[in-house]
Amino acid sequence: MDTSNTAAPLHILHLEDSAHDHRLVCRALDKTRFNYTITRVESLAEFSELAGSESVDLILADYRLPGFTAIDAWSALGAPGSRPPFILLSGAIGEAAAVSAIHLGIADYLHKDDLSRLERVILRTLEVHRTQRAKEKADRELAISERRLSELTGYLQTAVERERASIAREIHDDIGGSLAAAKLDLAWLQRHSSDPSMQAHMHAATDMLQHALGASQRIMMSLRPSILDQGLFAAVQWLASSFERRTGIKTILRANSEVLCPEKSVQLTAYRTAQEALTNISKYAQCSLVQIEISDAEDVLTMEISDNGIGISETEMQKPEAFGIRGLHERAKTVGGWLDVSTRQGVGTSVILSVPLAATEQLSAEAQFK
Ligand SMILES: Nc1ncnc2c1ncn2[C@@H]1O[C@H](COP(=O)(O)OP(=O)(O)OP(=O)(O)O)[C@@H](O)[C@H]1O
Ligand SMILES: [Mg+2]
Repeated sequence: MDTSNTAAPLHILHLEDSAHDHRLVCRALDKTRFNYTITRVESLAEFSELAGSESVDLILADYRLPGFTAIDAWSALGAPGSRPPFILLSGAIGEAAAVSAIHLGIADYLHKDDLSRLERVILRTLEVHRTQRAKEKADRELAISERRLSELTGYLQTAVERERASIAREIHDDIGGSLAAAKLDLAWLQRHSSDPSMQAHMHAATDMLQHALGASQRIMMSLRPSILDQGLFAAVQWLASSFERRTGIKTILRANSEVLCPEKSVQLTAYRTAQEALTNISKYAQCSLVQIEISDAEDVLTMEISDNGIGISETEMQKPEAFGIRGLHERAKTVGGWLDVSTRQGVGTSVILSVPLAATEQLSAEAQFK
């Protein structure tokens, strides 16, 4: 803040019951470089009324006044972020009172006999105040931007899940339907043909169709896991057994209940978390054992996927091009939960999803897939 004589005046509110002491302060201020205005108030009511106005740049306050102290005046100022800088300018108040005042957020304390330091103390207080305000503003902006980013992630994930579900429906209705009809026709032809070479071609074509049907079912399952209709346990069990079959890594699944049917959005979050964690294990962990534990005890869904592999280093965790784990953190937030990744090199990695189930009831309107 520019405080030179040419700058806009510094509006000072002086809480002081002694007219003599006020005059001393004015004299000390006259010797400084400040272009200032000063208003003296004596009562708490007057103080509260004037201190709340936008135009006060600085408060100088005596500690003990008739019937109240500067601490009462400080408390009357309202929300911490909107308080003007506040300096205690008083006779001896004792070290304990000075420390507790500064602890409360009062910027500084200056003894009345030490007014020669007033300029320095004011300059420092204004500078600290300006820096704090700038930091609070930056923190607020950061919080807003983080919230927006989180909302956008939630929206994108919902959009992606919807799109996946719609592609899965198209594959089911168009491709699946046509393949099944072609298979029926081939079967009819096979029944009505006795030519061995025709039979051989039709047999090969039926095999190809069967293969295409299997592929379209696999694609549908990864696009929209219809297995979730049977509950989270069944869906994760299906993931775990296909993972074990594909990789040969022993996979153990435990759950406190085989029902586990929280909100659809929570089920899908848990399913996608298990899917990404297992994909990561198959790509990087080099492990021999995977354990998955699911529980909905105490109204919190927890799912832990652990491996006994090589672990993740700090650099790997921060890879700029890696979005899997980062996406899981964001996805967990969209259902009111959080993700923890604990890892030790050479010992293994655990990915833990926690979602308080009561909180997700409020978010249920935002169902992520139908
Ligand atoms: N279970 C694990 N064991 C060992 N390393 C792992 C494990 N899971 C993840 N990592 C390491 O952490 C990094 C970050 O994983 P993340 O899933 O975020 O990204 P990615 O798999 O590399 O890419 P993406 O998931 O975006 O396709 C991986 O590149 C890998 O080096
Ligand atoms: Mg990954």
